[in-house]
Amino acid sequence: MQTVDWLWILHPALAVVMIYPLIGMALRLGLQARARRVDKAKLPPTTGRDHADLGQWLAAGVVLLVLVALTVVIVTKQPPGGFEGGGGRALQLLLVLVGTVVSLLALWRVKAKGYRFVFALLIWAGVLGLGAQPEVWRLSDNPLSPEFWQSHYWAGVSVVGLMILSLAARPETLKDLRWRRLHLAASALGAVLFLVLGITGSRDLLEIPLAWQKPTIYACDPVKRVCPPFAPPQMPTPPVGPTGT
Ligand code: HEM
Ligand code: HEM
Repeated sequence: MQTVDWLWILHPALAVVMIYPLIGMALRLGLQARARRVDKAKLPPTTGRDHADLGQWLAAGVVLLVLVALTVVIVTKQPPGGFEGGGGRALQLLLVLVGTVVSLLALWRVKAKGYRFVFALLIWAGVLGLGAQPEVWRLSDNPLSPEFWQSHYWAGVSVVGLMILSLAARPETLKDLRWRRLHLAASALGAVLFLVLGITGSRDLLEIPLAWQKPTIYACDPVKRVCPPFAPPQMPTPPVGPTGT
């Protein structure tokens, strides 16, 4: 594996090691908080608070995870020096990346409802802006095609939107039944999308070749599922010597 291959593996590894365990814990505590509230189950009163605290880390983690994937995809698409659009475009994209991370930190800290939703929107706009770059592979952008529904990208940016919404609406989810119902619906959809992401992410991992294999693999026709034949191996030429005895 070359450095670029390790960079590509950073996002899946972080997802498996950090994000999915957090999802499991947040889901369990969320269900316990509901069982305690609705069924009056005898569970510790801290379940709701612990769930929301973990949920906050989960939402922030998912945003950072997606930013890692998008940055790696955009930076490594072309060899260094051949970046499409040159330094000007690189600087613009860097500003969007920094702005998105700053908005995430701000959302974590601000209290006023208006600010929370503005920063949540800024984060989502930043993720969508980076995701819209031509270097980022998307199976399809047409919701009427089946490929769109199998797209790792679209499931990823949708789940970012849902998690950021839950993060921004934490105080409302706590106080207001309508917001709690909205949170339940958003989280159920989020759980399905996390499942889809685990499957489509593993599929993509299987399909992406290592850097040294790319020139050969990308010469294949993915529709007809054929690859050009390898060049015949070079036979060693026999030494030319005097003929006869
Ligand atoms: C995998 C993602 C998530 C799932 C499956 C999930 C699920 C749930 C469930 C089932 C409840 C109980 C609802 C009820 O009592 O009717 C709940 C409550 C709540 N969730 Fe989440 N949630 C998730 C992510 C988040 C995130 C990212 C936040 C943001 C901080 C969050 C904040 C809250 C809050 C504040 C409550 C109310 C807790 C209480 O009643 O004390 N959740 N969630
Ligand atoms: C929390 C769950 C996840 C989210 C929100 C997420 C989101 C994304 C996004 C938005 C991209 C960039 C668009 C693209 O290149 O398709 C991406 C890339 C990618 N994802 Fe995920 N993903 C998640 C989990 C996974 C998992 C579990 C795997 C594999 C085990 C995976 C494998 C990949 C691969 C191979 C890429 C290509 C680029 C790269 O590796 O940096 N993802 N993901």
